[in-house]
Amino acid sequence: MTQKKKLIAGNWKMNGSLQANAALLQALRDGLGEAACAVAVAVPAPYLAQVQGLVAGSAIALAAQDVSQHESGAFTGEVSAAMLRDFGTRYVLVGHSERRQYHGETDAVVAAKAQRALAAGITPIVCVGETLAEREAGQTEAVVKRQLAAVVQSNGQCISEIVVAYEPVWAIGTGRTATPEQAQQVHAVLRAQLAAATERADRVSLLYGGSMNAANAAQLLAQPDIDGGLVGGASLKAADFLQIIAAAH
Ligand code: G3P
Repeated sequence: MTQKKKLIAGNWKMNGSLQANAALLQALRDGLGEAACAVAVAVPAPYLAQVQGLVAGSAIALAAQDVSQHESGAFTGEVSAAMLRDFGTRYVLVGHSERRQYHGETDAVVAAKAQRALAAGITPIVCVGETLAEREAGQTEAVVKRQLAAVVQSNGQCISEIVVAYEPVWAIGTGRTATPEQAQQVHAVLRAQLAAATERADRVSLLYGGSMNAANAAQLLAQPDIDGGLVGGASLKAADFLQIIAAAH
């Protein structure tokens, strides 16, 4: 059982506008009060500067949704870790299943991205998770372990500085959440894998993601190895996101 502060991170995905972002952040700031957990929002890259301003002086940390595996140079369309740092980015998602699925990101690419983030002083939130077919074939454990192993191998002792998000692909945006027991089972596997790599595995926050909402958050967050949530759809509605934050203590 870990005693650290829970982390609730919203992943806005490709949603938002200058106006909508301002309204959402204002509502979050107004409703946040003394949140017992850490809070972050992962925003589309064009809004990093705007959101950096909107969260300044609040308990909300800025996160990005992706980072280049390259340091700098001729990589059109890419955003480097140093650029993210310029905007005060605290966390960056790497290896989200939508990046793996639609942009062909391999475990090696995800590991390289995590390395870039760490080198820039940004905490990578490494996303792992199995598809429905993989779960039904009994491969869940093997898949998440393979995905995490790539990051562990290339990041050595820094591995205790990462955050891991277990996001079963079949639970993302589907309204079909993993049961607290299913999620805990995988989180325990990930914790054991980290413990084999570092004595400080307890420092690593393990987030659950996949249709987390105001109604199911408390039960998921009560599991011993679930240290927070990575929230998609429900993070776009201030009232829902605030209820999830309130459930994390
Ligand atoms: O990264 C968050 C995520 O993929 C879960 O999305 O909409 O199912 O909460 P959602």
